[in-house]
Amino acid sequence: MRGPNLRKLNTNHLPRHPIIHSPSSTTQHFTNQIQRLPPLTYYTPPHTQSTQPSISKSLNTDQTHTHFGFHPLIHSPVAMAKPVSIEVWNPNGKYRVVSTKPMPGTRWINLLVQQDCRVEICTEKKTILSVEDIIALIGNKCDGVIGQLTEDWGDTLFSALAKAGGKAFSNMAVGYNNVDVDAATKYGVAVGNTPGVLTETTAELAASLSLAASRRIVEADEFMRAGLYDGWLPHLFVGNLLKGQTVGVIGAGRIGSAYARMMIEGFKMNLIYYDLYQATRLEKFVTAYGQFLKASGEQPVTWKRASSMDEVLQVADVISLHPILDKTTYHLINKERLSKMKKEAILINCSRGPVVDEEALVEHLKHNPMFRVGLDVFEDEPYMKPGLADMKNAIVVPHIASASKWTREGMATLAALNVVGKIKGFPTWSNPNAVDPFLDENSSPPPACPSIVNAKALGLPVSKL
Ligand code: DGY
Repeated sequence: MRGPNLRKLNTNHLPRHPIIHSPSSTTQHFTNQIQRLPPLTYYTPPHTQSTQPSISKSLNTDQTHTHFGFHPLIHSPVAMAKPVSIEVWNPNGKYRVVSTKPMPGTRWINLLVQQDCRVEICTEKKTILSVEDIIALIGNKCDGVIGQLTEDWGDTLFSALAKAGGKAFSNMAVGYNNVDVDAATKYGVAVGNTPGVLTETTAELAASLSLAASRRIVEADEFMRAGLYDGWLPHLFVGNLLKGQTVGVIGAGRIGSAYARMMIEGFKMNLIYYDLYQATRLEKFVTAYGQFLKASGEQPVTWKRASSMDEVLQVADVISLHPILDKTTYHLINKERLSKMKKEAILINCSRGPVVDEEALVEHLKHNPMFRVGLDVFEDEPYMKPGLADMKNAIVVPHIASASKWTREGMATLAALNVVGKIKGFPTWSNPNAVDPFLDENSSPPPACPSIVNAKALGLPVSKL
């Protein structure tokens, strides 16, 4: 994976110690003066390349990590923001691209470097960066940023990015409810996301949670580890058989449909789904699979497109939520809707936390011990509502639905290509769900931005490839 052009910065030759700042620091002070501070924290203006003439001379492909940083005092309007540590690749690159987090794989860095980008990766040991941190990272010259779904990309950040000359931002996520796209459009900043690479991985996690909940795997695991198992018992951790039951899908888009297929094909469940759009391909698949089963002398599977969401809630034994989060889907699952579900139903949420009223869910779990839930996302992430962690009938995992190596590396690649594509003036890809050409490690990606959500609003051209 590591390409020959991928270079990390060797700072062995650099002064080992950064600037000591005082509120009276000036740009000149900042750019020229370097003094002692603890190791691995460097304060230097990484995007002011003229101040680092010696860096490029010492580039060495064998070099590994070096932490590098700059002081935001000079580069941002946030007067007393703390320094943010970064790591730099290809310091003499023409375009400055910042990633607010280290991301999996190296291909994304390689691709940026090949396109003449100086890549700066924030290595700050802080899970969620504040707006101030990100303003500090943007500094006064930044061509594009790759950010994370935990960050608040609103007017303040897009204004800072535009002021620094930035043209592009990409979330390393398919969801972008953390991004104010209108604000980005107002500042002429393209917003990218990463569809097409998460589908199967996310669906697999939803399927895993469905299985774990139906067979009470987490409870049973805890029981074993607690040394409580003293022999087989007829009633020990009895759960639900999936075969022949009905899986309900709310939002049968890419991920919802992939999940449905897994549950139907894997466990021979029947399907009921609710979506504003007809899931034609999914319906055809279930019909064909049903015919195949029948021809093999087995009970065929069936499908139904429900006329209302409530119908799904009433009929299904396992229900998985796959809507996007917007004001129409906020608390889509509330107290009233929970009460419509079967007492032994299983509810899975790998979409966004606020789609479920989590307080109402905790109450429902308390009063319905056979009702089970598998949650990857939470209303106030990273927190859980009081009581949820105590519920034996809840399985909770920390927003890992897209966390397979292939997917996360692919997301990083797509996010990087969105940013560099826009910087280079490439058109947008015509089908953001068909991104395989961008993910093939053995060939160069097409000269296009894989997915820009405000492409139309910005009047960006569409690739003819
Ligand atoms: C996304 O991409 O929106 C996912 O939630 C990340 O796992």
